Amino acid sequence: MSGLFITFEGGDGSGKSTQIALLAARLRELGHEVRTFREPGGVVPGDAGERIREIVLDPIHEGLGVRAELLLYEASRAQLVETHYRPALAEGVIVLCDRYADSSVAYQGYGRAVLPVDEVRELNRIATGGLAPDLTLLLDVDAVSGLEQATAEGADRLEAAGHDFHERVREGYLEMAAAEPDRIKVVPRAPVDEVAAVVWAYVEPLLVRPGRV
Ligand SMILES: Nc1ncnc2c1ncn2[C@@H]1O[C@H](COP(=O)(O)OP(=O)(O)OP(=O)(O)O)[C@@H](O)[C@H]1O
Ligand SMILES: [Mg+2]
Repeated sequence: MSGLFITFEGGDGSGKSTQIALLAARLRELGHEVRTFREPGGVVPGDAGERIREIVLDPIHEGLGVRAELLLYEASRAQLVETHYRPALAEGVIVLCDRYADSSVAYQGYGRAVLPVDEVRELNRIATGGLAPDLTLLLDVDAVSGLEQATAEGADRLEAAGHDFHERVREGYLEMAAAEPDRIKVVPRAPVDEVAAVVWAYVEPLLVRPGRV
């Protein structure tokens, strides 16, 4: 049995958390078993992944080099893949992730614009053992309005990185979507319910009804 691996990508404040919550609720109502995760991170407060999250998002670490930053993200990802995503998928669970490997390509690759994008992809491959999402929903928002949403409650280290950075991230994402149109679906900005309807239209055809083989 193999579950379904769906990732959400997009800029800060693009609505990933909002859409994951709506999708998870809808799937659970239909009887599907769903587990949600967000990267970087872990699953319980104080675990290694959560402590890595604190390091990479804390503005106090502004001197963190781009390679160190990338490897921290990959360490968090490697741990989640091994201990949570793969076991859940093997049980037939639907796994929803708030950011995954594409985030590293978009942010540490295109955004930071220091490391070759292919190096980031290679580290993703090593960290994930090649686990690729069945579907990736790219919530596309122009960088300015997304950032306004995200910084309304105070900027973290990446959100504070500036407008050009976020513009490169967005362009990187769109390039990735153009290169992998079967996996990465671009979902344009719209009211929350409309975005949810578009997301559902992509997810529903992938579902196997619970209880059916
Ligand atoms: N489609 C939408 N239209 C307008 N506002 C939205 C939309 N989706 C989410 N929002 C609002 O924008 C803000 C950011 O949404 P959300 O937290 O879901 O985004 P996110 O991508 O998870 O952000 P972050 O990267 O900071 O975690 C919230 O205040 C949310 O209510
Ligand atoms: Mg969020």
